[in-house]
Amino acid sequence: MKALILVGGFGTRLRPLTYTRPKPLLPVANRSHVEHLIALLARHGVDDVTLLTSYMAEAFAGVRSWAEARGLRVSVAVEDEPLGTAGAVRNAGDVGTEPFFVVNGDVLTDADLSRLVDLHRRARARATLLLKRVGDPSAYGVVPTDPEGRVLGFIEKPEPGTAPTDAINAGVYVFEPDVLERIPEGRAMSAERELFPALAADGVLYATALGDYWIDIGTPATYLQANLDALSGAFRTDAVPAPGPDAVVAGEGSLLAPDARISSACLGAGCRVGPGAEVTRCVLLPGATVEAGASVVDSILGEGAFVAGGCALSGAVLADGDRAGDRSGGSR
Ligand code: GTP
Repeated sequence: MKALILVGGFGTRLRPLTYTRPKPLLPVANRSHVEHLIALLARHGVDDVTLLTSYMAEAFAGVRSWAEARGLRVSVAVEDEPLGTAGAVRNAGDVGTEPFFVVNGDVLTDADLSRLVDLHRRARARATLLLKRVGDPSAYGVVPTDPEGRVLGFIEKPEPGTAPTDAINAGVYVFEPDVLERIPEGRAMSAERELFPALAADGVLYATALGDYWIDIGTPATYLQANLDALSGAFRTDAVPAPGPDAVVAGEGSLLAPDARISSACLGAGCRVGPGAEVTRCVLLPGATVEAGASVVDSILGEGAFVAGGCALSGAVLADGDRAGDRSGGSR
């Protein structure tokens, strides 16, 4: 089966981290996010992946080699300017004659995608969406359905308290190839704002909630949460060999002082944590440094970022190479 993965957005909500890499390449438990997604797709019969790229397209070369080494066919479609989530699908080239997956490249899930395909086939839908039930749907696309799963409407980001259901679009779809005929060539089009409402109006769009783990890593808070969930085991991945409430993963060449207090943290290759320092509920990208006696909590440190000795950070996001509490220059 084929899967198209949308990875061409600017990831503006995750700036400054996405100034230097596309959002789907940020690591979750020290493995690039999109690799978790490709691994899930492969477990559900996908053998052919197209990466729908635009922003920093060349950065996906490593993912392509990684997936090819695992026996997947991989192609990369490039949009000169982002064409939107539907326009990008149209730009993918030949999608064949069978149903295929379309997946947002910022979704971390262990959803039973095979069941989604079964439901799609049984309903004879033109497209079928995965839904997720959430506490506050106001930041998402809300999707009311009838008892058979037929989508009744598509409401993007409703005012708080006005949503007719708590079921949101989880960014994972099955499409029939003829859906592409509804997407004009060469102009931007949003799946959420244009394509899905049109399919729903024709009664050919279906959706179902499967209740598995799901998070969208699109904001600093949810990106950090995705990493914490991988560490705790709420999201199961072999990237965390011993999950648990205080689990830590540390990449190759990281130097962690024996008396440093490190808990619920993902540390990339070559990170350094000095004596007496605290690192709790954090993601440190490769080469980040926390000096002796510093405290870093609920924070994300970019590649090569530096936290000076004695400095205390909470809820911070440092860009690549950023320096915090450093009196020798570039202090914050
Ligand atoms: P924000 O700017 O923070 O909203 O992020 P985004 O636009 O990168 O992501 P959004 O959550 O809006 O989109 C969901 C997924 O679709 C992400 O994986 C994006 O990379 C991807 N995406 C969004 N727009 C495009 C586009 O125009 N072309 C392609 N190829 N992918 C897109």
